Amino acid sequence: MKIDHLGIAVKDLDKTLSFYEDKLGLEKTAVETVADQGAKIAFLKIGESKIELLEALDEDGPIARHIAKRGEGIHHLALGVDNIEEKVSDMKEQGVRFIGEEPTPGAENMKIIFIHPKSSDGVLMELCEPLGEED
Ligand code: CO
Repeated sequence: MKIDHLGIAVKDLDKTLSFYEDKLGLEKTAVETVADQGAKIAFLKIGESKIELLEALDEDGPIARHIAKRGEGIHHLALGVDNIEEKVSDMKEQGVRFIGEEPTPGAENMKIIFIHPKSSDGVLMELCEPLGEED
């Protein structure tokens, strides 16, 4: 396992990108819209990990709700795993709750699923695995 990325909820993706790209000097690797997450997403490379900036697509989506409750800032921690289905079923057997039943397609051609923050003591955690290696 490794820390794949840190997800950060932002109000204005373009404004925040100018900080991360122009001022911090990080390299943007992708910008895409992910309907399942209700978000427009940008990835910035930082060493072997990434920073994911998420801007809400609609007022009722999870990102908009997060910002309404807690403001902009860190939204989730994403752990890269080798076999996401196996990991999820192992963890379910141990009583861990997930948001949704199965991994779904996320940004950057990854399969992703979120662990319910009640099971991870307040930290919203995502498990992710690149698609394509086993398919
Ligand atoms: Co993420």
